[in-house]
Amino acid sequence: MSPVSHDIQDQLQHLQQEAQAALANTSSLKDVEDLRIHFLGRKEGRLTHIKRGLKDLSEAERPAIGALANEVSNAIETMLQERLDALKNEALQAQLAKEAIDITMPGTYVPGGQLHPLTLVIDEVLDIFHGMGFAAIDDNVCPEVETDYYNFEALNFPADHPARDMQDTFYTDAGSNVLLRSQTSNAQIRFMETHRPPIRVVAPGRVYRNEEVSSRKGVLFHQIEGLLVDEKTTFSDLKGVLHQFVKLFFGQERPTRFRNSFFPFTEPSAEVDVQCILCNGQGCRTCGHHGWLEILGAGMVDPNVLKGVNIDPEKYTGFAFGMGVERLAMLKYSIRDLRLFYSNDVRFLRQFKG
Ligand code: DAH
Repeated sequence: MSPVSHDIQDQLQHLQQEAQAALANTSSLKDVEDLRIHFLGRKEGRLTHIKRGLKDLSEAERPAIGALANEVSNAIETMLQERLDALKNEALQAQLAKEAIDITMPGTYVPGGQLHPLTLVIDEVLDIFHGMGFAAIDDNVCPEVETDYYNFEALNFPADHPARDMQDTFYTDAGSNVLLRSQTSNAQIRFMETHRPPIRVVAPGRVYRNEEVSSRKGVLFHQIEGLLVDEKTTFSDLKGVLHQFVKLFFGQERPTRFRNSFFPFTEPSAEVDVQCILCNGQGCRTCGHHGWLEILGAGMVDPNVLKGVNIDPEKYTGFAFGMGVERLAMLKYSIRDLRLFYSNDVRFLRQFKG
């Protein structure tokens, strides 16, 4: 073997050992990539440099040394690849260890939300009426801050009429005719101003009255108004609809009675009582020992009201009703104090599941 050939063989063996030592010190994919360029790079790589020297060898020596160069090249290539794989695997293991989930740890408690009992009752009432063909009016259509006209005058409450005193109204300082609505009946006028018969709607909402707060009364409460206007509508239609409602809301067995009453915007007018749910008609504190509880007011729409919104009372008749949501909820769930609805006590609220 010539000295040149011997020297190249030496260089190749050294290069392989050097590469092995250098790879052992790498700690990142970039380190390995840098070494690949250093040892095997096409232009400046150390092996390429050595291979260039092969041309100085004799024809006889070249094949053997050339083969050795290729072997060394393959060996370094394999080492690089193995190191890359090892580093990737290390990174993966580290990530897995970091993201490990201990499934035996107790979970974080996320309390589930529930609907408020008044919301549940409103939803159920609307649902029942929906089944009888009544559409719900969007609450926003009927303002809570209302004018005297919609809350009283258009509902056939003449100025200074004593019927206004039936409802202790909050007036505002925005003007003598601006008030907080005392009843959802404003929805009747608001709706009939923009719609023609046949009309079949229900309108839930908040109302306000200047009352002494007690277990049965509050300054803010909820009502659901109903209105049906069509040709040939009669009082027996009203009775049928309300009987059906009571049946579905309270259950088949609850005795119900219609009582004669007065409201300026209905003629004739009635109030509907259901037998007291707490004492089953025996008489208790909640029903004032009468055995009956009033749940709503109703009647045939007064012709004056229809005239006021340009609906011909000779052609059309209608009925209306208005019910107190708190009252319905108290009866349905045997709640004795209305203030519980507004005290935000979770021990109370948690008992209602929608
Ligand atoms: N708005 C009445 C009140 O709050 C209840 C009422 C009675 C509503 C008769 C009606 C009705 O629609 O026809 O006392």
